[in-house]
Amino acid sequence: MTVAGIDLSDTEFWALPLADRAAAFALLRAQQRPVFFEEPEVPFSEKGPGYYALARYADVVEASRHPQVFCSGKGATSIPDLPLEFNEYFGSMINIDDPRHARLRGIVSRAFSPRLVAKFEDDVRRAAATIVDELLATGPCDFVQHVAARLPLKIICDMMGVPGDRYEMVLANTNIILSGADPEFLSEDLDQAVIQLLGAGQALADLVTSLAAARAGAPAEAPADDLVSALVTANIDGEQLTSAELASFFILLVVAGNETTRNALSHALMLFTEFPDQRALLLADLEGRIEGAVEEIVRYASPVVFMRRTATQDYTMNGQDYHEGDKVVLYYYSANRDEAVFADPERFDITRSPNPHVGFGAAGPHYCLGAHLARRELTVMLRELLTRVPDITAGEPDRLLSSFINGIKHLPCQF
Ligand code: HEM
Repeated sequence: MTVAGIDLSDTEFWALPLADRAAAFALLRAQQRPVFFEEPEVPFSEKGPGYYALARYADVVEASRHPQVFCSGKGATSIPDLPLEFNEYFGSMINIDDPRHARLRGIVSRAFSPRLVAKFEDDVRRAAATIVDELLATGPCDFVQHVAARLPLKIICDMMGVPGDRYEMVLANTNIILSGADPEFLSEDLDQAVIQLLGAGQALADLVTSLAAARAGAPAEAPADDLVSALVTANIDGEQLTSAELASFFILLVVAGNETTRNALSHALMLFTEFPDQRALLLADLEGRIEGAVEEIVRYASPVVFMRRTATQDYTMNGQDYHEGDKVVLYYYSANRDEAVFADPERFDITRSPNPHVGFGAAGPHYCLGAHLARRELTVMLRELLTRVPDITAGEPDRLLSSFINGIKHLPCQF
């Protein structure tokens, strides 16, 4: 493999086996400077100017720490800029800078704090226990459908106030939104794919509009205690969120809540199958080692592969000059394998300490809002699963074709 032979903008790259992908990023990290790539062609906007791939840990961390220099609000945090009709559904605070970003995040941030998440830990436990009861009754099955997808879906929908009979619809639409280039979810005809993406956005926007209308009709003395109510009653600088802001905020939360932790859980089963010594180590002292195991799963899997930033000014970082308007892509997946920080990075080691991974992003204003929730979901589910079904193993995964999400669509499991 040569650097010239690597094209991160080519969908084919993301169909390579994970080991080849990791080897390519090792090569990118070994270069003196971040490698510049041309952008992929997309049907919804003009081809952009290209991007620097930040593959090293030091660059990812420094760019995250300097949001005034590497901002989120110019164009988008996806590689292509988002046109207006996309931003209406898929923009929200992840594509906005402070101070407005902080005000928006403030509407919901308390609900994701350790104290409030601890309050519904019993619900998470009960939900995980039911999922494992049903797994045992079902027998060997698709682990993604029967286990990994279910807990994050239930928890985020309950937090938002989405009723149980809409869970499947929420999942189907978040799957489309983060389907990358995968033909199982999205047409290979690019114009058709745009229609499907906007349709998924519209369906979720319609859902939150109807939930908001129901909240607005509730008596003032009995407001519903959920996040849609918090969004509907939010007041920023004297103004309520517009219906587009409400929709995109809701979509961000359900997409981020669903499409990440699920993949971490599926990767966890694959990792404990591939590294049985680590499973034995964990089961020998579950309470003592589960926290480290969850961090190592997130490092190793890096379910979110990257986020983009845009330079707001000329700046030199680790010897490379950037100019205003330059796009930089922060490859968390690669930073989490940087030999300069993680000894023997391809080894899955649940006792790795310290483990300063950037799977939830690096320190900065956009650090994952749901990190604490995700850690709790992973801890509770793995504890339930590995103690009650200790011999469960994964078969061959059917991986999502995406540059953005390190996803598993289907994963046969046996026990
Ligand atoms: C293992 C699971 C998860 C992973 C790997 C993950 C990863 C990430 C990453 C890499 C970012 C970007 C950080 C940055 O730009 O600095 C992010 C942001 C975010 N995450 Fe997560 N996430 C996970 C679970 C969740 C969950 C369960 C939620 C619940 C809603 C969530 C909500 C969000 C939100 C709202 C943002 C945007 C925050 C902002 O712009 O201020 N995430 N996440």
